[in-house]
Amino acid sequence: RIFNLSDGKYVNRKITKIDWSYDQAKKGNFEHYMLKEILEQVETIKKASSQDAELIQEAAKQIKKSKMIWFVAAGTSYHACIAAKYIFSHVADVMPQVVLASEFPNFSRLLNSKDLVFAVSQSGETADVLQAVRLAKERKAKVISIVNVMGSTLTRLSDLVIPMQAGPEIGVAATKTYTAEVSILALIAHAIANNLEQGKKEIKYVWNVIYNLTAETTRKIIKELAGKLKNKQHIFLIGRGLDYATALEAALKIKEISYIHAEAFAGGELKHGTIALIEQGTPCIVFVSKENEKSILSNAMEIKSRGGYIIGVAPKNNPIFDFWIRVPDNGLLNPILQIIPMQLLAYELAVQRGLDPDKPRNLAKSVTVI
Ligand code: M6R
Repeated sequence: RIFNLSDGKYVNRKITKIDWSYDQAKKGNFEHYMLKEILEQVETIKKASSQDAELIQEAAKQIKKSKMIWFVAAGTSYHACIAAKYIFSHVADVMPQVVLASEFPNFSRLLNSKDLVFAVSQSGETADVLQAVRLAKERKAKVISIVNVMGSTLTRLSDLVIPMQAGPEIGVAATKTYTAEVSILALIAHAIANNLEQGKKEIKYVWNVIYNLTAETTRKIIKELAGKLKNKQHIFLIGRGLDYATALEAALKIKEISYIHAEAFAGGELKHGTIALIEQGTPCIVFVSKENEKSILSNAMEIKSRGGYIIGVAPKNNPIFDFWIRVPDNGLLNPILQIIPMQLLAYELAVQRGLDPDKPRNLAKSVTVI
C-alpha cells in the first residue's frame, strides 16, 4: 500500500504484474549465476522470438515513419545495437545512428519531433541511457525502449516498451540479455521488411545450434582453451561486418570478468597500427562467417605470419587455426551464436584464474552514475 507521508492518505496506483518468479532468481545447482544465465539462452532466445507481434510491428511502423533513427545504449547493450546496425542495413535498408549513451549529449541538439530514439537497456536504470532519453524527450523525439526490467525508470519514460523477457539477470556480466536484445532487434528489422514471420522462423530454427553450443562437449573444448589462455596478458579479437560486433562484445566479456586485456578490431583495421603488437604466441580470436571468410582469413594469416596464435570461431576448420571452435554459419543470426562460446570462455578464464565471475571488481550490475 502506498500513502503520502505528509497527510497519511492512501494513493492509488495501477498494478503491473512482473512476470518473474523467485525461483528464476535462484542459483539452483549452478556454481555461479553467470553460468546458469549462459546456459539459459536455449530458452531465452526462443522466448525473445515469440515476442508480441503487435509490439514489433508498431516499432517497425514508427521506424518507417521517422526521419532519423538513433540507437542509444551502453556496454553490452551498445554492442547489441552495433550488431543491429548491420542487420538493419542488410534486411531493411535502414541505417540507424548508433551512439553511446554517454556521448549522446553531444548530438542531442540535432534531434526533433520527427526522430525516433531506440534505447536498449537490460536494467532500464543506466544513468547515461536515462539522461539520453530525457534529452530526446526535451527535443520531442519519440522514444522506444527494449528493456529487461519492467517497471524500471526507462520503461516509465518511454512511449513504447518492448520487454526482453529474459528473466532476472543477476551476474554482472550481461549474457542472455545480449542475445535477447539482438534477437528482438533482428525481428524488428524483418518487420520493417514485411517478413516478421520469416524472422521468427529463422530464430526458432537456430535452437538446435544453441543447444549444442551450451552442451557439455562445447564446454569441455572451451575449458581446454581457457587453460591455454589464462596466463596471457593480451588477447586480440577480429571480425568483419556482423562478426565485428561479436568481437567487441566478446572482448568486453573477457576483460570485465577475467581482467585479461582483450581488444577487438574490425579485421581490416589491425594493419593500421595494432599489428605492431603481435609477437610469438599472441592469441588472436578470429570470427569467421561465410560472408567474410576470404577477407578475415587473410587478416588472420597476417597475424599468423608474425607469430600469432590463431583461435578460429568458424563453421569449418582451417590450417591457419591453432585452435578451432565450431560454430555453424547462420547468416544474420551469427551474433547470437558466436557469442555463446565466448561467454563461456570469459567465464572459464575467470574461474581458472580464481576469480568470482558473478562479482567482478569495480563493477555494479547497473551503473546509476553519469
Ligand atoms: O542495464 P544496461 O543494459 O543499460 O547496462 C549497460 C552496461 O552497463 C552493461 O551492459 C555492462 O557493460 C555489462 N556489465 C556488460 O557485461
